Amino acid sequence: MPRKSPLSSRSTVIAGNWKMYKTIDEAKAFVETLAPLIEKSQATVYLAVPFTAIHATAQLVKALDAPIVIGAQNMNDATEGAFTGEIAARMLKDAGAQFVILGHSERRHIFNESNDFINKKVKRALEDAIQPILCIGETLTQREEGETEAVLREQLLGSLEGVSSDALLKMLVAYEPVWAIGTGKVAHPDDAQAAHAHVRGVLAENWGDEVANQIVIQYGGSVKPDNAADLLSKPDVDGLLVGGASLSADSFSKIINGSKA
Ligand code: PGA
Repeated sequence: MPRKSPLSSRSTVIAGNWKMYKTIDEAKAFVETLAPLIEKSQATVYLAVPFTAIHATAQLVKALDAPIVIGAQNMNDATEGAFTGEIAARMLKDAGAQFVILGHSERRHIFNESNDFINKKVKRALEDAIQPILCIGETLTQREEGETEAVLREQLLGSLEGVSSDALLKMLVAYEPVWAIGTGKVAHPDDAQAAHAHVRGVLAENWGDEVANQIVIQYGGSVKPDNAADLLSKPDVDGLLVGGASLSADSFSKIINGSKA
């Protein structure tokens, strides 16, 4: 399996995003099956479970001493308040979540979340010490019209406005082309690399080289066991954000175990 360049100090972070799948019992059974399968992996493994399963899976991971970090898939930007149906960062932390996915394309496109709103959430997450994974990515039309780089720049600058270099070092970024999510059409590793290099360049321009060199940038969109290693072999692809293939312990463990020799 290809390894990251020895010059890179960035660790490999493989995250599962379960979206609106799995009950508490299903989530617990998954963790019990996955834990022994990934014992020897050198990658850091994250699992973004539904809100209802955070507490049970976080407790189970602790009890099993399993190398899995439990997180959430969304949150509100307020600390608390009259926001029916919303959830606050401190509630997620209280339940056992250590990270939160923000700005996922399903949030941006189905629930109309703006860069401005995502920016507020990112700042709240950082303030309340829950690690954000900021997702960005272009649509098919934007790619076809040659707007990919401009869109990624706009999403990055909009979602990260006012975030300091020190704070940025505590986050992850995920490049997820919208046309690749849930479609089975994975980005070509060279296209993923080009987008990741662009993202790192925009981060370097605005937050400095050190931050840009250290931040983990994940690729997401139709990652499967048979394409994961090729994507990770690219120098700027530091990890993966996996949707569909993270729902089965078999395919998720294959992606994790194939990620490093
Ligand atoms: P997918 O989803 O792997 O099912 O394409 C990725 C994601 O939405 O993060």
